Amino acid sequence: MKIAFFNLENWEKEIAENYLKDQEISFFDYALNKDNLPEEKDFDIVSVFVDSEVDSKVLEALPQLKFIVTRSTGFDHIDLKACASKNILVSNVPAYGDNTVAEFTFGLMICLIRKIFLAYDRIKEIGSFSLEGLRGVDLKGKTLGVIGTGRIGSRVVKIAKGFEMNVIAYDPFPNKKLSEEFNFPYLSFEEVLKSADILTLHVPYNEKTHHLINKDNISLIKKGAYLINTSRGGIVETEALIKALKEGILAGAGLDVLEEEGVVKDEMGFLFRGHPEEHNLKTVLANHILIDMDNVIITPHNAFNTQEALQRILETSLENIKTFIQGSPVNLVKT
Ligand code: NAI
Repeated sequence: MKIAFFNLENWEKEIAENYLKDQEISFFDYALNKDNLPEEKDFDIVSVFVDSEVDSKVLEALPQLKFIVTRSTGFDHIDLKACASKNILVSNVPAYGDNTVAEFTFGLMICLIRKIFLAYDRIKEIGSFSLEGLRGVDLKGKTLGVIGTGRIGSRVVKIAKGFEMNVIAYDPFPNKKLSEEFNFPYLSFEEVLKSADILTLHVPYNEKTHHLINKDNISLIKKGAYLINTSRGGIVETEALIKALKEGILAGAGLDVLEEEGVVKDEMGFLFRGHPEEHNLKTVLANHILIDMDNVIITPHNAFNTQEALQRILETSLENIKTFIQGSPVNLVKT
């Protein structure tokens, strides 16, 4: 079969070539989207990362396509309805190390509430060892509100207990065993917003979770709480987030993900592609305001990015491809 991989690193290319020796493989060092299509169009399988945007236009441009393999857990960068209408299957990497994202979540959290990023900048930029403005707060004894207790959220609960935090959680499908084992209650979404000192988001992005935190409910958040988002930018309405930060509802935010983050990463490309109205320009502007705020830490969708996790992601993706070729695909996403 003809397989196209987008944005693989060189060490990954080598492993993929060895693993899929009998197949016709092509590598493209860019993300796939309607403006970045390969010259050849007759691929049976494409493998992409979250920086690709596989919409109906991309599917139309690749008429032989039968299978999309995303090297990620999230699949909101793929138009599943369009795939279903063309009988194209989609697979993801359901789990590659829940610890990887959970550990990063605590990295962001501690960096934010102990102002490590400000201290680091100050020493690097002006060589000052002053403690002025660098006082933080403890994790121990604080209430952590975990929104979404799936694979990553449940690992976050376990780590939080190690820090002696109180945990409360919301999930439409509560995990009774987890709550008994780690002794925490499930509450309503509103109650978690009202009671948590630190909120952390671990839900998938879809129509139901779009702007889960928005201008109508953000003021429910306990005054002075912190928000950590390592799930997807679109879970939080950016304008509401800025308002909450400005008004002191939130003391700070640690964000590994932003709404319209693809545009922020490639603004030049966005501008010159000539159809900026398709994206929410207001959100792009709002992201710049967030970037400039000194109670906000932004990282470039980096929570997954450890050597161990990448190895596991690649192994599962290659297995997804092999099992598809053998006629018994695994890790299929419901389209
Ligand atoms: P999962 O599918 O194991 O768990 C998601 C949980 O969210 C489930 O328990 C589900 O019931 C719950 N949920 C669904 N709707 C909800 C709602 N409205 N409110 C509260 N809970 C809700 O997913 P997993 O593996 O824990 O990953 C979560 C998300 O993290 C992924 O969908 C992905 O978007 C993001 N992620 C981000 C990464 C990064 O590098 N920043 C890396 C990997 C995942």
